[in-house]
Amino acid sequence: MRIDLITALPGLVEGPLQHSIVRRAQEAEAVTIEVHDLREHADGKHRQIDDYPFGGGAGMVLKPEPLFRAVDAIDEAHGPPDDVIFLTPDGERLEQTTVNRLSMEGHLVLIAGHYKGIDQRVRDELVTRELSIGDYVLSGGELPALVLVDAIVRLVPGVLGDASSALTDSFQDGLLDAPVYTRPAEFRGQTVPEVLRSGDHQRVEAWRDQKRLEKTRSRRPDLLPDAEEKE
Ligand code: ADE
Repeated sequence: MRIDLITALPGLVEGPLQHSIVRRAQEAEAVTIEVHDLREHADGKHRQIDDYPFGGGAGMVLKPEPLFRAVDAIDEAHGPPDDVIFLTPDGERLEQTTVNRLSMEGHLVLIAGHYKGIDQRVRDELVTRELSIGDYVLSGGELPALVLVDAIVRLVPGVLGDASSALTDSFQDGLLDAPVYTRPAEFRGQTVPEVLRSGDHQRVEAWRDQKRLEKTRSRRPDLLPDAEEKE
């Protein structure tokens, strides 16, 4: 898979891409991630990437030309992407099902906006999908783009050592995860539930199912089917 990330603040995203699973995925050549500095596609001595909004109002708007040029350059070098994703608080809310779908694509372009927004013509002509990572406003799309990259990359085949572990994540089957423990079996007077130390696989699974249901019911009843929610 290839991911191109366009941003006016490359320094904000480069560090986090050099760690942990996202780093290993690149080293294993399961994914190629390239960060593109929007300013390199801007005109003039000042390489201006933003301007005042027509009609007035607070904040600056990212100009269309640098964004169109950045996407054209990616297109020429690597072929057309499957999706051009703009991270924005007014996008569709990111869910695990969308992450799963995107992890099966071959080439994604992510646009991290800043300032007040980006020129609407970019959204109309270039962008194929607009995603929000939640109902709160961050100062730019860089952190949301990193969230999306992390969520996608860990699902790309060959990236996670234990293939079953991504499938047992919270949300993958609509329920939150059960508690987990490791050694020592007793710590500061708190002991690991006996069932987890019993070696009885069936009992362990039944306990986990029950805990997942309990946690989901108390924290996220909205995730449960209607019948269950009303119980
Ligand atoms: N940019 C600013 N806030 C955002 C959010 N919540 N999701 C995606 N992009 C954003």
